[in-house]
Amino acid sequence: MHHPLQFEPLSEDFLARPYAILNHMRESCRAYRHADSLCRVVSVFRNEDVRAIANNWHDWSSDRGEEFRKGNLGDATVMFYDDPPEHTKLRAIVAPLFLPARVHALTSQIEQRCTELLDDCLAARDIDVIDDFASKLTIYMISKLIGLPESALPRIRRLTEKLEEFDGQAVFWRERRPAVEAQIGEACREMGEYFADFIRERRRRRQDDVLSAMLDGGFTDAQASGFCQLLVIAGQATTTNLIGNAIHLLMTHPQQHALLRQTPALLEPMVEESLRLRSQLRKLERIANTDCAIDGVEIRKGDFVALWLASANRDPRVFDRPDEFDVTRGQLRHASFGTGVHMCIGNALARLEARIALRQLLARTRTLEYPQGPEAVHFARQPIMDIVEHQPLRLIAA
Ligand code: HEM
Repeated sequence: MHHPLQFEPLSEDFLARPYAILNHMRESCRAYRHADSLCRVVSVFRNEDVRAIANNWHDWSSDRGEEFRKGNLGDATVMFYDDPPEHTKLRAIVAPLFLPARVHALTSQIEQRCTELLDDCLAARDIDVIDDFASKLTIYMISKLIGLPESALPRIRRLTEKLEEFDGQAVFWRERRPAVEAQIGEACREMGEYFADFIRERRRRRQDDVLSAMLDGGFTDAQASGFCQLLVIAGQATTTNLIGNAIHLLMTHPQQHALLRQTPALLEPMVEESLRLRSQLRKLERIANTDCAIDGVEIRKGDFVALWLASANRDPRVFDRPDEFDVTRGQLRHASFGTGVHMCIGNALARLEARIALRQLLARTRTLEYPQGPEAVHFARQPIMDIVEHQPLRLIAA
């Protein structure tokens, strides 16, 4: 008997086996219309389609419209949700701060912070590698970058966690969720207020940080607030998860782990392979600017399209043995940082942090163990992101 295809990203089934379901969808169709969601939304799965849409801002917009702006952004302006030419102007002001050469200059700060954190972790021996290492490192770097006091970050993290919990899921909702929408609105407002105060202060006293550069570059308060919020949301948990996922992949693939310890030059490819296999952000969204069709699925102007990066990254048309973790893979074209005008501005920084963190962790340990077994590793019940919440780890010093 022929079963119609069903794809429900918010279902228990998807939470339990997201990659198997994405593989099945990708090999069954190019585009899938979600029949029951409130929004008109179509999912696409193949590497070629995901890239083509992300590369074409003209036909596929990032602008979510007025209602979304009011509910989620308040007065803030966020380039993530803008199209050219506005997006181009904002991005041009901050882009120089994220160029590889500029980011490279942060190496010694990252090295030093990693060394301090690992001193403590090695003394403790049994740690949670997320709380005690990865997230402490990324919080430190993002606060340094923006020029925030490190002490402010835990509060901001609580707010961004609220957003992450629901972010990216709303397009698949089958009914409005006023309580959740109110919580998101509240978290955004609180964050907006925090940054407004902070920006007022920085207008009076410039420092050597990204925020001062934005204000010098002509950002309005709303634009600066939006960018700070975006940096905290886009830049911190994602990098923590990259480090956490890379460690989990090594721990569950002992041969690859051993190979990496023997051949340190494989570290960079290993970070890329972790990005490919565990997409921190499993999907992006765009909005159709014109009526069109993908493989017979009709799309109207204003429809949402969900670009499944996590599926594009395992497309067998691009990758051999796509579900395997292989640190020796050569040139990779994974989609984890997106592509096109919105491609992740922080990719060089995320890569640098992950490489340094993992290089030091490996260099200073003879081996790593799961003291409570692999079952103690805890993943968030999150359909849209790969979040390792807890990862108890034992460090055996070198
Ligand atoms: C592993 C870590 C990271 C991943 C997987 C990631 C992923 C992404 C992706 C997929 C996009 C494209 C969004 C789109 O096309 O709609 C993006 C954009 C962005 N990311 Fe990242 N990101 C990471 C780390 C960072 C870091 C460390 C920062 C900053 C410190 C950052 C800042 C941004 C910003 C500002 C944008 C918006 C760019 C624009 O709209 O032009 N990200 N990120």
